[in-house]
Amino acid sequence: MQVVKTVVEIRGLRQKLKGTVGFVPTMGYLHEGHLALVKQAKQEDSAVIVSIYVNPTQFGPREDFAAYPRDLDRDIELLRKEGTDIVFVPLDDEIYPREFSSWVDVEKVTERLEGASRPEHFRGVATVVAKLFNIVQPTRAYFGQKDAQQVVVIKRMVADLNMNLEVAVVPTVRESDGLAMSSRNIHLSPKERQAAIILFKALTLAQRLWRSGEKDAEKIRRQMTALIRKEPLAQIDYVSIADAQTLEELNSLDRPAVASLAVRIGKTRLIDDMPLA
Ligand code: PAF
Repeated sequence: MQVVKTVVEIRGLRQKLKGTVGFVPTMGYLHEGHLALVKQAKQEDSAVIVSIYVNPTQFGPREDFAAYPRDLDRDIELLRKEGTDIVFVPLDDEIYPREFSSWVDVEKVTERLEGASRPEHFRGVATVVAKLFNIVQPTRAYFGQKDAQQVVVIKRMVADLNMNLEVAVVPTVRESDGLAMSSRNIHLSPKERQAAIILFKALTLAQRLWRSGEKDAEKIRRQMTALIRKEPLAQIDYVSIADAQTLEELNSLDRPAVASLAVRIGKTRLIDDMPLA
């Protein structure tokens, strides 16, 4: 496994690869959710490249960029065990040189949900992902279903800008009690960790109601909200039942949809989602 830091190095190595190239962009502090993406890429592609870069432009001024967990040595060891071919760990000025002034702005699907609560987040995500795609030139790029809106945004960007790659989506990996794996779970105290299960409970409630034939999206949102409010440590940011492609809130569940939510547990903001399709 080779670990490289510069665009020149990764381009040199990329040129020598034969067959398909699977790419897993990450911000590091890897967990089973990331490793599931690497495993799927290993199965489907001839070579696997993983990037580790905590992208400053997708964090708002009051968000947790500085506190975002990092452990590069451990990440590299985990990736070695998975049989990753190349790890790209760019330095900040490789990605954002001093004169940097070009941004990728995906409209509409970024205005709701995470976009409404975190203005500029998706501009940072789309820009860094577009740059990484240009640098790595993958055949396929792998993203987790856990960040449902991120998947919608990346797919939109790839289609709109005619990027020559496939976007593969891998199901969310969960702890045994249902909590979605996330690098931010590390910030939860034992009591908060217990309380955080409420996200999964609310999503499974939505799925149960939908499976039993409930078509009224507002009724489902209300029941999810009522359930989360019973958890004293939880503070709702949003609860959504939206069209799976446009992310517009639905009145009636008459097409593929996604239930998603963002909830603060203490100081930690968690997101999760489940397809209703
Ligand atoms: O999902 C993430 O970890 C990040 O948003 C990504 C795609 C690596 C871009 O920084």
